[in-house]
Amino acid sequence: MPGADTSTKEKNFYTDIPAAKHSFFLKGLDQYDWGMQSRLSRMFNPKSGHTVMLAFDHGYAYGPTTGLERLDVTIAPLAPYADCLMCARGALRSCIPSDCDKAVAMRCSAGTTILDENVFVNECIGVDIEEVIRMNVTCMAVQVCIGSDNERNNIENFVKLVDLGNKYGIPVLGVTAVGKNMARDKRYFGLATRIIAELGGHLVKTYFVEDGFEDVAAGCPVPIVIAGGKKLPEKDALTMAYKAIQQGAAGVDMGRNVFQSEDPIAMIKAIRSVVHENATPNQAYELFCDLKAENAKAAKAVKRAKTTKAKK
Ligand code: R5P
Repeated sequence: MPGADTSTKEKNFYTDIPAAKHSFFLKGLDQYDWGMQSRLSRMFNPKSGHTVMLAFDHGYAYGPTTGLERLDVTIAPLAPYADCLMCARGALRSCIPSDCDKAVAMRCSAGTTILDENVFVNECIGVDIEEVIRMNVTCMAVQVCIGSDNERNNIENFVKLVDLGNKYGIPVLGVTAVGKNMARDKRYFGLATRIIAELGGHLVKTYFVEDGFEDVAAGCPVPIVIAGGKKLPEKDALTMAYKAIQQGAAGVDMGRNVFQSEDPIAMIKAIRSVVHENATPNQAYELFCDLKAENAKAAKAVKRAKTTKAKK
């Protein structure tokens, strides 16, 4: 017990100052309560309003993707540079140290794999909410294949997780996935992102489109993050991130364009400069090249020192 208040100082209730009102910094998420907003503020930087998520959830359906053969070797060293890690629970528990203080978007749907032509389309809820809470997860990510043969089932999984998310204050990230027969265009992404948001998704992950992304972002009432997609030359990936942010994305959730880069640490730092500091593609690419050269020099010095030591 703190004991009785023995201060002789006159109490001041600041009756001349109206009670503070806070509006939340992420669009469409003003009306959620403290726990939900606190988690969102761990995923997104409240100063820039943006996030750099590092996606390495590929293995849960595709096995050991190039660059992800050893998560402890390739991903753990990148974690300090991400705002949020996106992965499956097995990857998190086995390869990411629990003292890592990053937000985590856990892949909470599971189902068919690369060995099935319906990979991603036929998923169920793959993680129990108690496990999500036990692992101190910041956000639940679930595949929502709008327009697939399994659309109803995807939406059912999604809204169940939204209800659980609202119950426990854990945001749900709806991940749009484009079927083989669908066009990756503004019409499809505008439709899919809007449906996910209207069904209660707190965040939406989608792809960038050259023609009309601004409309997709504006038509989605909650924050959108873009996936990176297949590996591009570094400057092209930085340009895509730049355009997405300038046209209304709240962040990027990139995988292959980071962990398959010639220099993953230099690349994620360059992406951060675009997402959080509004660096242009040229400035970010220059940063990437400088950091890559520095890292190569440092690696050479370490190698030289090792060789010298071995010779002695
Ligand atoms: C999404 O559905 C995937 O599981 C990945 O999280 C996503 O594709 C992002 O990774 P990448 O930037 O490599 O496409």
